[in-house]
Amino acid sequence: MFSALLRLSCLALLGLCAAAARYPSFGTLKTTNSSGVLNVVINNTYSSINLFDLHVQSDLANLIETLQANDTDIRVVVFSSANKEFFISHFDINYFLPGYESPLPLYDPGIPNMTFPVALLWNITQLPQATIAVIEGRARGIGNEFLMSCDMRFATTAPSVLLAQLETSFGLNPGAGGAMYLSRLIGRGRTFEYVLASQDIDAATAERYGWINRAFATSAELTSYVQALAARIALFPPGGIAGTKRGVNAVSRPPMDVIIRDAQDLIGVLAATQVTQDFSKKFIQLTHNQSIGPLELNYGKELVELY
Ligand SMILES: *[C@@H]1O[C@H](CO)[C@@H](O)[C@H](O)[C@H]1NC(C)=O
Ligand SMILES: *[C@@H]1O[C@H](CO)[C@@H](O)[C@H](O)[C@H]1NC(C)=O
Ligand SMILES: *[C@@H]1O[C@H](CO)[C@@H](O)[C@H](O)[C@H]1NC(C)=O
Ligand SMILES: *[C@@H]1O[C@H](CO)[C@@H](O)[C@H](O)[C@H]1NC(C)=O
Ligand SMILES: *[C@@H]1O[C@H](CO)[C@@H](O)[C@H](O)[C@H]1NC(C)=O
Ligand SMILES: *[C@@H]1O[C@H](CO)[C@@H](O)[C@H](O)[C@H]1NC(C)=O
Repeated sequence: MFSALLRLSCLALLGLCAAAARYPSFGTLKTTNSSGVLNVVINNTYSSINLFDLHVQSDLANLIETLQANDTDIRVVVFSSANKEFFISHFDINYFLPGYESPLPLYDPGIPNMTFPVALLWNITQLPQATIAVIEGRARGIGNEFLMSCDMRFATTAPSVLLAQLETSFGLNPGAGGAMYLSRLIGRGRTFEYVLASQDIDAATAERYGWINRAFATSAELTSYVQALAARIALFPPGGIAGTKRGVNAVSRPPMDVIIRDAQDLIGVLAATQVTQDFSKKFIQLTHNQSIGPLELNYGKELVELY
């Protein structure tokens, strides 16, 4: 119904609203494009920490649908964040707690047995365009899983760049397959070291391990490198880009049934346990419902205080 209302108001405000999107639009993504490169700035104005909540998910799903259609000449998509402390903080923990409501479906209507957020990230891995993440803030949990679903990752060495899969500390597993992707990038031992301990990694170490492609000393160097790389790739025919991605996905991406069974369905079971319910409530309380503060900023260091 929300969505129907939105379509009506789009008609009423003709000119302010583009083609009716499938899901409600919340304006959390600012896009600009030229010469085949689409720059997407994630700015969740409903959250001080760029939370991966229903607003961002809804807007991303609409964007992905546009990109999947191949009806534009976009060949490269560059994701960055307006919030310099948080690229994408993490999943909205309220989702796991009783009383959570959302206009989004629980399962993706297009992919059998995949939940909406998991399908969203899966779809990003197989966009026909090349995807690049420009990281200038924290990305933990599904924030890091979002990074894993992009083709390339670049960051600054600023102290605000901290990456982590923090699910283990909640009694959970990375539910969209983040640790599976990571084990192929950085190896089994380092994956366990970081993910089992829910530790933050800084950009310089992440670069050394292969978690990210490269780290730059300044924001200007980061931007200029990524924009040149994107412009170069965008010169090439789309068939080559999509074809190359297809092959790399075939050998380096966890298979869909494995993600469903051993990541997504498992997190569903673990999220319902009393220990995770209690920890999640405590986390919501201590972060003042996921607001900017010491725990969100320094989760890797502060989380032991929760135990
Ligand atoms: C890219 O820009 C063109 C021209 O302004 C516009 O028509 C098109 O919708 C844009 N594409 C995307 C994916 O935003
Ligand atoms: C877009 O391109 C991809 C890869 O080339 C193809 O698999 C897909 O079917 C195309 N989508 C549409 C809607 O034409
Ligand atoms: C992000 O959103 C806030 C609140 O609407 C706005 O003040 C700010 O300019 C936006 N930042 C960018 C880079 O778009
Ligand atoms: C994912 O892609 C499928 C097509 O493969 C589509 O049916 C579905 O709506 C997409 N879901 C999201 C959340 O992007
Ligand atoms: C989806 O789940 C149903 C019921 O659990 C199962 O029968 C079916 O094989 C699953 N399909 C896929 C593609 O995983
Ligand atoms: C936290 O914020 C969400 C909206 O973002 C709201 O639905 C929820 O009730 C809030 N929870 C608490 C404990 O304040």
